[in-house]
Amino acid sequence: MSDAYMEYDGFLFPHHAVTKESMEFLANEFQFRDDDIYNVTYPKSGTTWMIEILSLIKKHGDPTWNNTVPNWERAPWIEELEAAQKLNESEECPRLITSHLPKQIFMKSFKNSKAKIIYTIRNPKDAAVSLYYFAIMSAFYRDPGSMDSFLKEFLTEKMPYGSWFEHVKGWMEMQGKDNFMFQTYEDLQKDLRGSVIKICTFLGKELDDKAVDSVVENSSFNNMKQNKMANFTLLAPGFMDHEKSPFMRKGIVGDWKNNFTVAQNEYFDKIYKSEMQDCSVKFPWDTSIQE
Ligand code: A3P
Repeated sequence: MSDAYMEYDGFLFPHHAVTKESMEFLANEFQFRDDDIYNVTYPKSGTTWMIEILSLIKKHGDPTWNNTVPNWERAPWIEELEAAQKLNESEECPRLITSHLPKQIFMKSFKNSKAKIIYTIRNPKDAAVSLYYFAIMSAFYRDPGSMDSFLKEFLTEKMPYGSWFEHVKGWMEMQGKDNFMFQTYEDLQKDLRGSVIKICTFLGKELDDKAVDSVVENSSFNNMKQNKMANFTLLAPGFMDHEKSPFMRKGIVGDWKNNFTVAQNEYFDKIYKSEMQDCSVKFPWDTSIQE
């Protein structure tokens, strides 16, 4: 086991981000508020994109906040101790809060809060490719080795924040609850404007056309890639090395096709079908999984 990870409550976590102390703070001291907005994802599924969108919606399309404050201050990760402590003191309303936690752990503290949760989900093949390059450039994951060995780990072994399958199936149990919405990365790509309007409706936020246009423009891949407050280049190089691979890497749907061999894709499909057979939710990529 690499020392990049620590184990808590049966799950692995990158110890640079999550500690036993931070998890205990979350369990015992963190105060959830009913007007909070939670941006929850499995890593590499559109977390930072959703932070930009939610920040812009909160400010009615005005990009000043997005352009002057780093995303980790606008929508802090709840599983980081200092961030969670500051959130308890925060007078922001609503608070935007990010999390990669599996539902199994998150819900132990969230309990019956009425806070809204948006769960963004991405084709696991693209999330795996994105994570592979992220593991090369960041201190949060251990070295991924070859794509072959990384895929085996991603699909069959314990991963930080849980496996993609247990994360997604766990959070999908929230489907149908009034305070829960799931959003796919693929739909954000296909129709960003329509997705922003749906998110506004879910949040009960009314934005005029000009404000919606600004949300769309300022959360585009190219704008975010240029924005130091969104692209993580302000983070110490010890945490992320953008020379190895930029955080804002490609931002496309289907990059797995450029990275998987035919055999790797077949292996992925086989495990996906077996793991997801008990999941009733259908995703846009399901039709392309080989029979
Ligand atoms: P790639 O590595 O495939 O390029 P997360 O924020 O959950 O860590 O996910 C990061 C992934 O989302 C990266 O994917 C990144 O490029 C992509 N991403 C971030 N902002 C985006 C945007 N505005 N449009 C499209 N993709 C975006």
